[in-house]
Amino acid sequence: MEKQTVDFDANPPVATTEYDDRVRMAIPGYEAMHTMALSFLKSNSPEAANLLIVGAGTGMELVKFSKSNPHWQLLGVDPSSNMLAIAQQKITQDDLSNRVKLFQGYTHDLPDTPLYDGATCILVMHFLPDDGSKLALLQSIAQRLRSSASFILVDIFGEKSSHEFEKMAAIVEHFWEEMGIPPEQRKEILESVNNRVYPIAESRIVELLQQAGFDNIIRFYTGFWIGGWVAAKNSTY
Ligand SMILES: C[S@@+](CC[C@H](N)C(=O)[O-])C[C@H]1O[C@@H](n2cnc3c(N)ncnc32)[C@H](O)[C@@H]1O
Repeated sequence: MEKQTVDFDANPPVATTEYDDRVRMAIPGYEAMHTMALSFLKSNSPEAANLLIVGAGTGMELVKFSKSNPHWQLLGVDPSSNMLAIAQQKITQDDLSNRVKLFQGYTHDLPDTPLYDGATCILVMHFLPDDGSKLALLQSIAQRLRSSASFILVDIFGEKSSHEFEKMAAIVEHFWEEMGIPPEQRKEILESVNNRVYPIAESRIVELLQQAGFDNIIRFYTGFWIGGWVAAKNSTY
């Protein structure tokens, strides 16, 4: 079971009501990255796919994916009731409640069935330390996927103490400035990355994905220090 280090209810890295605006400024290509994830899922999922959205937050994947695919069913999992309350408002507003459901808790709390046709874990795993917690999260997802189901992982990556990572941090600070994030908020996000985020090298991400039972791993997105990988659930697991 994963060890939790971030709590979006008790001590959110960004106020949940500000999340939607802030994330679009802080994550390079946030909307485009989700559109890329959606395109991959569309080309690899059945018409009436049943998808698992891990760390559903305020509902970006749930709303975007379900609006684009009228026969898809989605389950959003997240421990934060405040984030899910915002997601629920959007689901109700867009009349998606019959196909989009929410579960407050962790993936390992879900029943073993049904098996899903695909899953995403976007901007979540970097909050977990690499002490077995990242692997446990990936395994809890893999266990709930049918053989050859698609999986999308998006995370901050790189080795924190490395020269490359420090250089990237300096570039990202300029990006935030260009995006109009005020200095005080830039400092807050950087502190959050320094103290509450546990990035790992891409080679380690690939290793963990393989250990959890995924193969055909390809990086599909890079936004400075944020990477996105697509993978398939291995048929031997
Ligand atoms: C940065 S938000 C990402 C939300 C959404 N995926 C997006 O792309 O905007 C991270 C979310 O992951 C949730 N989270 C944190 N730890 C988690 C875990 N172990 N399992 C599932 N969700 C988790 C948080 O509560 C938060 O809502």
